[in-house]
Amino acid sequence: MTTRGADATIPRFHRRRGRAFRTEGMQPIVLSAPWFDEAETDRVRRALSGRLAGNGPFGQRVEERLQQLLGAPRVLLTTSCTHALELALLALGVGPGQEVVCPSFTFVSTANAVLRVGARPVFADIAEDTLGLDPRDVERRLTPRTAAIVPVHYAGVAPDMDGLGEIARGRRLRMVEDAAQGLAATWRGRALGTLGDAGALSFHETKNVTCGEGGALVLMDPEVALRAEVIREKGTNRSAFLRGAVDKYTWVAEGSSYVLSDVLAALLDAQLDKLAEIQARRARIAARYREELAPWAERRDVHLPPRLADREDNAHLFYLLYPGERQRDHALALLKSCGVQAAFHYVPLHSAPHGRALGLDRVPLPVTERVAATLLRLPLHPLLGEAEVGRVVDAVRRTLP
Ligand SMILES: Cc1ncc(COP(=O)(O)O)c(C=O)c1O
Repeated sequence: MTTRGADATIPRFHRRRGRAFRTEGMQPIVLSAPWFDEAETDRVRRALSGRLAGNGPFGQRVEERLQQLLGAPRVLLTTSCTHALELALLALGVGPGQEVVCPSFTFVSTANAVLRVGARPVFADIAEDTLGLDPRDVERRLTPRTAAIVPVHYAGVAPDMDGLGEIARGRRLRMVEDAAQGLAATWRGRALGTLGDAGALSFHETKNVTCGEGGALVLMDPEVALRAEVIREKGTNRSAFLRGAVDKYTWVAEGSSYVLSDVLAALLDAQLDKLAEIQARRARIAARYREELAPWAERRDVHLPPRLADREDNAHLFYLLYPGERQRDHALALLKSCGVQAAFHYVPLHSAPHGRALGLDRVPLPVTERVAATLLRLPLHPLLGEAEVGRVVDAVRRTLP
């Protein structure tokens, strides 16, 4: 595929977004882009002529498809992964006066969900290999108030789930997986999101499967699932009514509105049809980055994502760890000047303004700080053509000649 041809396949709004990265005579290469075509348009059109509210025919169908795909007893579609995390903690009874251990190396939603239910996030450091929670540091953060652990599957890679599971079982803690980046990835053959009491997936526009904004809550215990259903539907038993389990629905508990519109569920339905092809395309790009950058990286002390036994990632993102922050920042600027959109991940939450305001910056998190200062993500999406991948590789090699 030529660069021009590939660019023409990128939706107009991505071309617009790419303009910030356009340099003279060069087409921009964006970090991520969803793959939508007539399949999504047709499915949305069908939804528009039916029911628009949540828990409609498309929503129910997508929930069943996800249950099958993940091997999970119950999946509830939600408005976002942020809301799925919040809903999980509410349904599991985590709340005021309690603490929840999670990484600081994560997106803001992980900690926001904890705060929204009235509990306090407590940050633990991450492991060098998985970039997910390090069980040894989690141990150090436990107090009599700890109620739950929220591991994040960064880049679709599970942390040490044996170690974390042992802590959770030993202390009777709840485990809620932030599997926002985890769809189609496994740990020991088990789908991410199904390893704890609950798992939250994201369908944000940057994710492998997307409907713009959306999420799903995976629940392993049917009783917790019933509570979550009620909270998701404004505290009513509407879900039971739609199943035919009650003959009218009414207010039965405190709740909110976390259910995904059927229009967006229709989009997800079309995306799930493409899942195998989306994954294959992503995997090919990640494999090419690995193969073509490994010899360069080894000689320059740049680290690529490790390949770990027992874990199958989902090529959600491909990152490089530079030897230092200066080299990483130089690489970001150089890639930008080449029209390649790269990004760092993340501003660690403990050092962000709100983390500091809450006094969450008082624990040492050395691995988190080192990784956040040196990590750089490369473009990875199903519309990236061969020539563009080649251009990214060439530009990356120039960042440390
Ligand atoms: C680790 C992590 N948690 C939570 C979220 C929030 O997902 P959503 O945008 O669907 O609320 C994201 C989204 O990028 C994420 O990467």
